[in-house]
Amino acid sequence: MPSFPPDFLWGVSTAAYQIEGAVHEDGRGASIWDTFSHSPGRVRDGDTGDIACDHYHRWEEDVELLAELGVGAYRFSIAWPRVRPDGAGPVNGRGLDFYDRLVDGLLVRGIVPVPTLFHWDLPQALEDAGGWLARDTAERFAEYAAVVADRLGDRVARWITLNEPIVHLAQGYAFGTHAPGRELLMDALPAAHHLLLGHGLAVRALRARGAAEVMITNNCTPVWPASDGEADVAAAAVYDGFHNRLFLDPVLRGEYPPFAAALSDAGLVRDGDLDVIATPLDALGLNYYNPTRIKAADGGPMPFETVGIEGVPQTAFGWPVVPDGLREVLTGLRDRYAGALPPIYVTENGCSTVDIPAPDGRVHDGARIDYLDGHLRALHAAITEGVDVRGYFVWSLLDNFEWAEGYSQRFGLVRVDFDTQRRTPKDSFAWLRAVLSGRR
Ligand code: FCB
Repeated sequence: MPSFPPDFLWGVSTAAYQIEGAVHEDGRGASIWDTFSHSPGRVRDGDTGDIACDHYHRWEEDVELLAELGVGAYRFSIAWPRVRPDGAGPVNGRGLDFYDRLVDGLLVRGIVPVPTLFHWDLPQALEDAGGWLARDTAERFAEYAAVVADRLGDRVARWITLNEPIVHLAQGYAFGTHAPGRELLMDALPAAHHLLLGHGLAVRALRARGAAEVMITNNCTPVWPASDGEADVAAAAVYDGFHNRLFLDPVLRGEYPPFAAALSDAGLVRDGDLDVIATPLDALGLNYYNPTRIKAADGGPMPFETVGIEGVPQTAFGWPVVPDGLREVLTGLRDRYAGALPPIYVTENGCSTVDIPAPDGRVHDGARIDYLDGHLRALHAAITEGVDVRGYFVWSLLDNFEWAEGYSQRFGLVRVDFDTQRRTPKDSFAWLRAVLSGRR
């Protein structure tokens, strides 16, 4: 493995609903994912996050795994419904206590905590009041950010406001494949504005409480037109605007990409909103999984359609494996945003594989090693080409609840047996540990 800068931050990522379980404990309120996963037909095999990896009870064992792996940082998310069970009413101290213990457990082992404040688990009570379609939700988010920072800000310096708002918007509000399951298509756009406003207000709340480094994490993808034809190229540009620019142009440039200009016409964007949204950031989180090939719509509800990428390996999920796409996306961001682009952390990258324990009990996930090896080399190439990348986080530490796919997609460096909750580090865990200690 080529060498990375000495102060490069290596970590792994998880998210609250995907690992914690304990959904009724210590005063936690319901989230939209509790509701969604308990609605018949929404999640594969009827799986829910009720128990997940039982991390709420086993967090010490999981922190030991992080220490064994040798990472310098751990990105986890805080469950809003643990902290403020109904989103707007009293704060639940016992919910905060959990993250307090976790943060201390990390710091004792020299691991930097990197909490994400919103990884899709909105309190159900806020959804009942309109969810992110309601402007008030942005205010509630900033209040919640302040409460968390008041409790943890003496030990947490780096914060992530939102995780992948585009995926939450698209899957949760436009197509209904994730919670809260709305199928509004382009009418979902107001939720984008309120997510962005919530982000900006939260940045200000965190800064006011001394946060040293605040970022937002976006999912970005290189967009490849399916052909050189004008219609496909135009459709790809629209998709790029939707997927990559909708949550970056306002944050980094203080303006919406052209296709979303209607938000202002609709009166949703009030005076001063874009200034709040464009509050300068210290860093940008980037989640990269794969490129996207786009063709012009053939009568579908959106002005674009995705088409498969052939001739490359695929993950268990069927996602194309294109390591160089990470270099492409990073250099593309640099070219597009130039001086407005803050330093980047790759806050998620990884793959699902079919991990069946061998007779010796070990999990030989060579495909994950190949995936990570290829992506780290592509990342290194981007750094060599001058992109300022400060860290890399693997998705994920543990096999976990993969949203609408339930437990069917395993992304972990550590296998979880969901019947016994036994953790088994996979071959990729040993490989990454060797990379981190300079042995590879
Ligand atoms: C990302 C999500 C993360 C996980 C990975 C596979 O979009 O942020 O929670 O589900 O995909």
